[in-house]
Amino acid sequence: MGDEESKKWVLMVTAQAPTNMSVIKYWGKRDETLILPINDSISVTFDLQHLSTITTVSVSPTFLHDRLWLNGKEFSLSGDKYQRCLKEIRSCAGDVEDEKKGIKITKKDWENLHLHIASYNNFPTAAGLASSASGFACLVFALAKLMNLKEDNGKLSAIARQGSGSACRSLYGGFVKWFMGKNDDGSDSFAVQLADEKHWDDLLIVIPVVSSRQKETSSTRGMRESVETSTLIQYRAKEVVPKRIVEMEEAIKNRDFQSFARLTCAESNQFHAVCLDTSPPLFYMNDTSHRIITCVENWNHSEGSPQVAYTCDAGPNVVLFAQNRKVAALLLQRLFFHFPPHPDTDLKSYVLGDTSILQDVG
Ligand code: ADP
Ligand code: DP6
Ligand code: CO
Repeated sequence: MGDEESKKWVLMVTAQAPTNMSVIKYWGKRDETLILPINDSISVTFDLQHLSTITTVSVSPTFLHDRLWLNGKEFSLSGDKYQRCLKEIRSCAGDVEDEKKGIKITKKDWENLHLHIASYNNFPTAAGLASSASGFACLVFALAKLMNLKEDNGKLSAIARQGSGSACRSLYGGFVKWFMGKNDDGSDSFAVQLADEKHWDDLLIVIPVVSSRQKETSSTRGMRESVETSTLIQYRAKEVVPKRIVEMEEAIKNRDFQSFARLTCAESNQFHAVCLDTSPPLFYMNDTSHRIITCVENWNHSEGSPQVAYTCDAGPNVVLFAQNRKVAALLLQRLFFHFPPHPDTDLKSYVLGDTSILQDVG
């Protein structure tokens, strides 16, 4: 084979990763570079069908630069969050051999080989449905397969954390806790699974997609401004969240929907209170988000106990947890009545989901 011929190979891996929705919120960093949070957080990982990222990573000696295409458009990889992840992964890469294709890549070769990355989110990007979580979890997981990393999910989760904090929780299915850690080097800031995706299979997720528009203030910038200007944020991180973490773990363990709902709604509301306490204030919710929350509050009140929990991240989309399938069906009826999806209104569609785990799809 001539020299040019021997360069004509491409190795590819595709992976799919779910997003996750926090029920105890991460909002605020103590270290911007390593992405170390000011409090622990807990999330629920979604199913792959409705809210996930699919990423294909490839390597070839003919590639001249690392490049990323996000939802079909080229996207700059120059940001620190991408550079840190790529650097960490390259430093752990292993040997790869494909006898059929006559390819042999040694650990050292990865430093000089370039990557092409094509990624799609099957749900709105940068609209408060945690695309950065599934996006970075998928990127790290796919690259780890391609480059034959021997590291376990714990290490991959720590690498994904350096892309986007919430991404460290998407490496696990079911119910996940991210420990803030105490160390300055981030060595004890990682995610663990609290319960797997089968633990609470009655729980159903309903998402009214209020808006697919990209938010004006990214989560990264929003939380930086909150840390700099909000007085409520430190009280929340030190006094409120530690107690709620203990209660939420207990609620998940016991499948106690009453406590789960009370804590989830209170967390969402306090998170948005911190956003309002930021200068200038961050308005992530809109009128429709407020109306959906009021509708759920009224329903829960009229029943005398919570049927549905709501949470809203850094965007206008509300995520609803129904206690069981019967409640989910009633909830959808109510929502369709009050908020019919229509091209002229801001409500576009509904997404129904379960809890789940990420996959290597070949
Ligand atoms: P969201 O609420 O959707 O998580 P963020 O502001 O936290 O919004 O993050 C959006 C950013 O995450 C995007 O601008 C992009 O940098 C990154 N991102 C989203 N999806 C992907 C993906 N599939 N692959 C790589 N990066 C992604
Ligand atoms: C409101 O993980 O998107 O969704 O770490 O800067 O990438 P960066 O931020 P990101 O923030 C998530 C904030 C949140 C709450 C949560 O997911 O816990
Ligand atoms: Co995000």
